[in-house]
Amino acid sequence: MKIAIAGKGGVGKTTISGTLCRILGRSNNEVLAIDGDPNPNLSVVLGIDKNAKMPPSLSTDIIERVEEAEGKWKFQVKMPFPEIMSTYGQKAPDNITLLMVGKPEIAGTGCMCGSHTVVRELVHSALSSGDSQITVLDTEASLEHMKRGTSRYVDKIYTVVEPYYRSLEAASRFADMAKQLGIKKVEAIGNKVRNEEEKMAITEYCQKIGLPIAVFVPFDENVMEADLKGISVIDHNKDAPSVKALETFAATLWN
Ligand SMILES: Nc1ncnc2c1ncn2[C@@H]1O[C@H](COP(=O)(O)OP(=O)(O)O)[C@@H](O)[C@H]1O
Ligand SMILES: [Mg+2]
Repeated sequence: MKIAIAGKGGVGKTTISGTLCRILGRSNNEVLAIDGDPNPNLSVVLGIDKNAKMPPSLSTDIIERVEEAEGKWKFQVKMPFPEIMSTYGQKAPDNITLLMVGKPEIAGTGCMCGSHTVVRELVHSALSSGDSQITVLDTEASLEHMKRGTSRYVDKIYTVVEPYYRSLEAASRFADMAKQLGIKKVEAIGNKVRNEEEKMAITEYCQKIGLPIAVFVPFDENVMEADLKGISVIDHNKDAPSVKALETFAATLWN
């Protein structure tokens, strides 16, 4: 099962991706969490100790340029994916391994490609190899990483939406992009919902654009309190309303 979480900056992608990983990991799934954001912060939600030893940073020298056919070149990751995981993956609580791909260093050697190429190729490598795990990709606020046919390995993409117009509009754009990339299942996650009126606003908009809503996650003080302490909401209060909503959602993932 491979899913991607998309949406405008600040809507709650990382909170939702990370909490979902924890929930899935706690029910005995082996989870691969990919942080695709150039400002990575998934590790906090995953509950990784701030003082834990970090794996080496990924850099552009992990990519090579190979000749495909006459005069045609392509970029590819040099290592098999399991080796990438054992070298660059970071063990997190609850059966999760985190791979941070969003901010590769530019090496003086190697393919001389840009960091975008590295992210794209790594996401491709992660999504196209092995099927034993659940993979959750926390995207940056664009679907750039998923060009190059990667989308065919993604089972579902969720676009996170807050109950205000610009966020709804952005969700509609993400949904269109995802469909253009060939991802068949695109659904919305309504986040930071405070009341029925806000729920209705999201429901009406999504109905209009034909976007199914997978779950509503309430606006939750616990998320803010956890943020203030620099910890994850599930570690702050495992019975927080947002965690409960995501537990219900996680149980329906295979439907
Ligand atoms: N359900 C929620 N209730 C309250 N605050 C939330 C909720 N979800 C996310 N937040 C807050 O919104 C902000 C952005 O969340 P984040 O997950 O970092 O978004 P993104 O990854 O999309 O940029 C954070 O301050 C986070 O604490
Ligand atoms: Mg984020």
